[in-house]
Amino acid sequence: MAFPQSFLDELVSRCDIVDVVGSYVQLTRKGANLFGLCPFHSEKTGSFSVAPDKQIYYCFGCKKGGGVVNFIMEEENLTFPDAVRFLAKRAGMEVPEEEGDREAGLLRQRLLELNRDAARFYHQLLQQPQGQAVREYLERRQIRWNTAVKFGMGASPDAWDVLLDEMTSRGYAKSELLAAGLIVDNKRGGFYDKFRNRLMLPVIDTRGDVVAFGSRVLDKSEPKYMNSSETPVYSKRRVLYGLNLAKKTKRPNIILCEGNLDIVTLHQAGFDNAVASMGTALTVEQTRLLSRFTKELVLCYDNDNAGKVATERALQILNNSEFSVKVLQLPRRRTADGELVKQDADDFIKNQGPGAFERLLDGSENGVEFRMAQIAGKYDLSDDKSKVAYCEEICTFLATISSVSERNIYTVRAAEIASIPKESLEYDISIILKKQRRQEYKKDIHKALNPTIELQPKDRKMRIEDTLSARAELGIIRLLTLDDGLFKSDFPLNANMFSYPLYSKVFSFLWAEHLSGRRPQISLIAENLTQDEMSFLVSALQSDNKRFEANREIMLSDYIHVIQTAHKKRLISDGSIDPLAAAIEKNKNKKNTGGKLHG
Ligand code: CTP
Ligand code: MN
Repeated sequence: MAFPQSFLDELVSRCDIVDVVGSYVQLTRKGANLFGLCPFHSEKTGSFSVAPDKQIYYCFGCKKGGGVVNFIMEEENLTFPDAVRFLAKRAGMEVPEEEGDREAGLLRQRLLELNRDAARFYHQLLQQPQGQAVREYLERRQIRWNTAVKFGMGASPDAWDVLLDEMTSRGYAKSELLAAGLIVDNKRGGFYDKFRNRLMLPVIDTRGDVVAFGSRVLDKSEPKYMNSSETPVYSKRRVLYGLNLAKKTKRPNIILCEGNLDIVTLHQAGFDNAVASMGTALTVEQTRLLSRFTKELVLCYDNDNAGKVATERALQILNNSEFSVKVLQLPRRRTADGELVKQDADDFIKNQGPGAFERLLDGSENGVEFRMAQIAGKYDLSDDKSKVAYCEEICTFLATISSVSERNIYTVRAAEIASIPKESLEYDISIILKKQRRQEYKKDIHKALNPTIELQPKDRKMRIEDTLSARAELGIIRLLTLDDGLFKSDFPLNANMFSYPLYSKVFSFLWAEHLSGRRPQISLIAENLTQDEMSFLVSALQSDNKRFEANREIMLSDYIHVIQTAHKKRLISDGSIDPLAAAIEKNKNKKNTGGKLHG
């Protein structure tokens, strides 16, 4: 939804970037700016900076940057609207929702409060005499107390109405408890608690809201797991158990498992990147959610038939997605009687330990083999033409393996599969690698020589005027955010005259803010830019030349002149302006020459 601009203005002005960032990062002042350790990448010396005057942050190490909303989007892994809601809550502001959504919004809010209260209540019970059975169960499953706390685990007592009584006494209506799926209608005019005598596993979404509950029996009775039904705040297709924690992982990927307790065990063993789809097949919605946090998924489903089917299905969904996918196959275990049985992640960690799991995770072998089999499966290798196509695709893939020895091993295998000499594949791969290296080198040189070159749109011929113009455009943006009092109503530029589309977009937004009497701020553009664009913009602003800070008026008129000149040249070369007419026009203004030309 679109928030009213006035609301966003108020929000940003109430959420000072130094305060907000300061609650995540320890900042020390150095000159006009503050510095600290970057929360977005691991580092030992602080390259993360916050500029209070521009209300932006920027990391010189990982090059991430933006305004206060970007920071929350990045740090809490939230979308723009969710980051806005998050900040609003922090600042104690009410978020204006659209009229139609209002009632539904109120109910959702109420149900979320109820879920949270219920989760807290179950958690308290876990620490009381009624929680004894569940505590013993946790012990049997080797779940430590701090893990239980981290997951907000609770105990539902062996009774019919403990939650019902407690929540109604706190002012929740039965209809609300029903809508949240916490009680059940007995069809005789009465109600009873849905969850009884179970280990309670709150399902927490990426915003930190308790949206549902999973629960497990303490013995062998059925159903083993009982989960909340779909409610106005819970759609199981859109949630992954453990993602509220896994979204903060420093590990490069996310591990997908089947079961809730697999996740608990994995996190406890240091794999804080594990999530579960809670018994259902991976959905497209879940992959979209995951794509906000990682580009690499590790499928770790059970090594039995059902698990293989789940893996296949997940791979189908992930086929051609932006993710790289690995398959972690848990080995079966031989029992004392010599029988081979499946293990899930929980069993494996308990039997073989975290080190063994780490090794399975590291062994990208599975992933490579899997991908190779996928590629080979696409071609009929008895046919020469498709064999050539296979070689092309397999070489492109093999070239992505960065370890040389690993690449060699798989090159041999890929050659064997197609019964061709490995040398021919090796040659093709070396060509691909050389080309890649050349391109990277060129890019680096390019960037080092002129950081603004890459600003130019690809389809337009780069002119020196455009580069200069881009720099001036950036300067204008900087001045506009620093001191919009400099900009009079007869300001001669408009966004169409800018040479660089990103700056044009930014300028037109800031200018509209200026015209409506608000202070133009970079923080407010978050919604209109991608995170990459935002980081680029902030990085550019950060490195922009501040030497002539004293002469803002002079700078402004220089910038205007540069942009106007470049714009005119572009119009001429586009054919929008006839160069002769332009020259006449120009000369007409100079005394005495106009007549001659006309003559
Ligand atoms: N599940 C469910 N309802 C069931 C059984 C399973 O929702 N009746 C979901 C649960 O989220 C469960 C997952 O499917 O965690 C995997 O089920 P399963 O492999 O049977 O159990 P485990 O996760 O191994 O459970 P445990 O280790 O607690 O026995
Ligand atoms: Mn299990």
